[in-house]
Amino acid sequence: MASVGISQNIQNHIPIIGDMTLKSPIAYKTTRLMAGVFNTAQMALAEAYINGLEIPDSVFQSLLHTSMPLLFKHAPGLLAPYEWVLKESDHLAESSRELMKIQYDLPQALLNRMLGDWDVIYPKYSMGLWENGAIDLEQSQMHMIDQVIERLEIVDGDHILDFGCGWGCVANYIMSKFPNVRFTGLNLSHQQCEYMRGKMQDPQSHLSGGRFTLYEGDLNEAQFTEKFDKILSIGVFCHVGNLTNAFQKLSSFLKSDGKLFIHIITVRIPNNLSTGFTHKYIFPHGRYWNYDAVPSHNSDLKTVDQWYINGINYHKTAMAWLERFDASQDLVKSLDYGMDYAKFRRMWRFYLLLLGTIFATCDGEYNGNGQYLMTHA
Ligand SMILES: C[S@@+](CC[C@H](N)C(=O)[O-])C[C@H]1O[C@@H](n2cnc3c(N)ncnc32)[C@H](O)[C@@H]1O
Repeated sequence: MASVGISQNIQNHIPIIGDMTLKSPIAYKTTRLMAGVFNTAQMALAEAYINGLEIPDSVFQSLLHTSMPLLFKHAPGLLAPYEWVLKESDHLAESSRELMKIQYDLPQALLNRMLGDWDVIYPKYSMGLWENGAIDLEQSQMHMIDQVIERLEIVDGDHILDFGCGWGCVANYIMSKFPNVRFTGLNLSHQQCEYMRGKMQDPQSHLSGGRFTLYEGDLNEAQFTEKFDKILSIGVFCHVGNLTNAFQKLSSFLKSDGKLFIHIITVRIPNNLSTGFTHKYIFPHGRYWNYDAVPSHNSDLKTVDQWYINGINYHKTAMAWLERFDASQDLVKSLDYGMDYAKFRRMWRFYLLLLGTIFATCDGEYNGNGQYLMTHA
C-alpha cells in the first residue's frame, strides 16, 4: 500500500470545527452552520465571477493557494457544504439525467476540443499521469492507462467491463495493445455513445471489429448476463452516492477470480468534499470521497491494494484542458449551451481554474486521485 502516512498526520490537525465524527451534537451543529455560511460566501463569489466580476487568474489562484491549506489542515468540515456530502445517499448514482444535461451531453465539439481527440487517445475526461515524464496531454493519458494495465494485470483475452466508459478512450487504447481483449462499455451520455457508435463503424478504430459492446444506460439500472474477468471504472465514482451499493453491484458482475480497479478523485481530509458551485453548475451531487474510507464500504469485495496519486497530476491535466479551451474560442463560442455564451465561458473557466488550482495546493498531498484494486472477499 502506498502513502497512507498522511492520514495520521491529518489526525494531529483536526480542530473541533473539522471533526465531523465528533459525537457532540453542538459541535456538529456548529460545524454545519459554519459550513453553510462558508458555502454562501463561496457561491456569492462564484456567481459574481460568472456574472462578470473581473478577477485575474493569478489572483484567483493565489486566493486558493492561501485559503485551501488552511481549510484542508484546520477546517475540513467547511468543505462539505451540504449534509448529503458526508454520507451515502439512497441511490447508487444521483441526479443522473440532470448530470447528463448540464455536463456530459454538452456540445461535444467543446468537450472533444478541450479534452483532446487523437488517433488512439479519444477524449478522456479524467486525470492524466504526468509524473512519469509525459510531455503533453495525449502522452499523460497514455501513461495513465499504461498504469491501469499494469495494476489491473490485464492480459490478452480478458473480457473487461468499463463502468462509465466516456468516449471509449480506455477501451480503444487497451485494445490497441491486446488483440484479443474484449470490452463492454456502459455510459448514460447519449452524445458520448453516439461518438462511440461512429467509431464502431470506423475500420481505423479498435472499437470496430466486434470486440467492443456498448450499452447506453444508467449505472443504477445496469445488469449483465455474463461475468467479467476485469472491471475498471475511471473518474466515475465522484457521481456515485452510495459506495456500498456500487461495490455490491460490481461484485455481482465479476468472475470469482476477477479483479476490479477503481480510479477516482479523492481527498485526504477526514470528511468527503464538494462545493456548492460544482453541485449547482457542473456536477450535480458530485462529491470527492475520503481516500482512506473507500475500502470500508466493501462487503462482497476486499481491497488488495490502494494507491494515492499526487494531485499535481490532475492540476497539470486541468490546466491543459483550460489552455485548450481558451485556445478554442473561435469554435466553441458558436455552440448552443442554452445560455449566453459569455456567461457560459466564465462559468467554465471558474470550474477549470478551481479544479486545476485545488489539486496543486499543499503540493497535491490532500486532493489527488485514489486507485483501488479489489477482488472477491
Ligand atoms: C468523468 S467521465 C470519465 C469517463 C471515462 N471513464 C474517462 O476516464 O474518460 C464520467 C463518465 O461517467 C458517465 N456517467 C456518469 N454518471 C453515470 C450514470 N449514472 N450512468 C452511466 N454513466 C454515467 C459519464 O457519462 C461519463 O462518461
